[in-house]
Amino acid sequence: MTEHTSPNNESAESGSAQHDTVKNGNAENHAAERGTAERGTAERGKLTPSRRELFGMIGAGAAGIAVGAAGGAAAQTALSGGFDDNRVDTVHGVVPFEGEHQAGITTEAQDRMHFASFELNRATSREDLIQLLKDWTTAARALTQGKDIGDGAVDGALLLPPDDTGEAHDLGAANLTLTFGFGRTLFADKKSGQSVIADPYGLRSKLPKEFEELPLFAFDLIDDAISGGDLCVQACADDPQVAVHAIRNLSRIAFGKARIKWTQLGFGRTSSTSRSQKTPRNLFGFKDGTASIKSDEAEKLKDFVWIQKGDKTPDYLVGGTYLVARKIQMTIEIWDRQHLNEQQRVIGRTKGEGAPLSGSTEFETPNFKALNPDGSPVIDVDAHVRLAHSSNNQGVELLRRGYNYVDGSNELGQLNAGLFFITFQNDPAKFVQVQGNLKSDLLNEYIRHIGSSLWLVPPGVRPGEYIGQRIFEA
Ligand code: HEM
Repeated sequence: MTEHTSPNNESAESGSAQHDTVKNGNAENHAAERGTAERGTAERGKLTPSRRELFGMIGAGAAGIAVGAAGGAAAQTALSGGFDDNRVDTVHGVVPFEGEHQAGITTEAQDRMHFASFELNRATSREDLIQLLKDWTTAARALTQGKDIGDGAVDGALLLPPDDTGEAHDLGAANLTLTFGFGRTLFADKKSGQSVIADPYGLRSKLPKEFEELPLFAFDLIDDAISGGDLCVQACADDPQVAVHAIRNLSRIAFGKARIKWTQLGFGRTSSTSRSQKTPRNLFGFKDGTASIKSDEAEKLKDFVWIQKGDKTPDYLVGGTYLVARKIQMTIEIWDRQHLNEQQRVIGRTKGEGAPLSGSTEFETPNFKALNPDGSPVIDVDAHVRLAHSSNNQGVELLRRGYNYVDGSNELGQLNAGLFFITFQNDPAKFVQVQGNLKSDLLNEYIRHIGSSLWLVPPGVRPGEYIGQRIFEA
């Protein structure tokens, strides 16, 4: 497999040299530096000046570069070699990247998230997209082991920008997982100015029939600028800098082929993927994730999370899933003025223990038939947990894996805070079922859905494979 990487590839764009000239003060310096760099390259047989040119372009804000095959040989080493095994702890805090399923779904939920949605550039072809996925896969293999990408952050030529940006250089893997998703737009025609490019990535025939756009729901105030995208990467880690570093470097690799559309930082996981993890709390102060599907619930994972082998299911989807991401703004100042009883009525659970109001322990099954002495239901008919519960949703359960967020504050002195809600399900219809049933949810008075996205998460990669390879080659 030939690995080409954007940071090391040669570019046909001329803006790079121009930028370098500005950066170095004059053309002579530029030439001298290039000469030194080339000597350095020859000596080590690792780096070429092309990386430097590329970063010149980044600084110049150049867009739409044509990344060619010229830098391929150098690029081949860029993301695959040069690891320094002594520097990072590759034993602790490493979640395997390869496997039947992608990591970051049933693997233990980490504390931090950096989520990024990418849009492919107009000129990006099927071949470019495949190359990007190959490069991302190579980088992901290194990053998830706590290794710098390519020649690293500090071991390259002194007169070239390092392959790796360096801010996670000695932080280890911190349980980093990288989960990649394909937007529906990858399978569709693409608008390019006034014209339409038919089936630009040759994937139209691969569109799974259940991969429908999410409908609009009651109370949705969806902002397109923070919704959807061609590709997504969910980076989760126990160190925020490790997650941010991963997205930053994947974005750098994508230069010229794809750009970030929107990103979201999250802290304080709002779910547990195993019972050994303590149930965390969301920004309303309630335990969140109690009744979410856990990694040891094999039957439920089969029924609700992983796409299963079946007569009509193409093999290239088996082991994959769908990721729904909803950015949900929480009006926390209003919530904070509600008395405790009201807050518990809205959720249907106690704030302290997280027990259903019909019981006293966190993990017991809610009794929706329980009545108060006055005959009213103990768990309100419109309590969140009642409406979200499988018994009111044709048996559907969800694997939730979201994060709290605070995006600064608004001009009224209120926090822009909420829940970056994420679920994984083997059919988007399962999310639609539950979300549709939340129409009369008491929570709706305190939340607004402002972002909405759906991605197909291809199955995990096998050794030597790149993300989504089976979809392209089927
Ligand atoms: C800001 C918005 C939300 C908040 C604050 C919130 C909070 C909670 C809390 C505190 C629980 C109880 C503990 C637990 O089982 O995790 C819960 C349960 C649940 N929530 Fe949410 N939730 C929100 C949005 C959603 C959305 C959008 C969905 C799905 C469309 C959803 C689906 C569920 C499900 C399926 C349960 C488990 C119900 C059960 O089986 O007991 N939630 N949520």
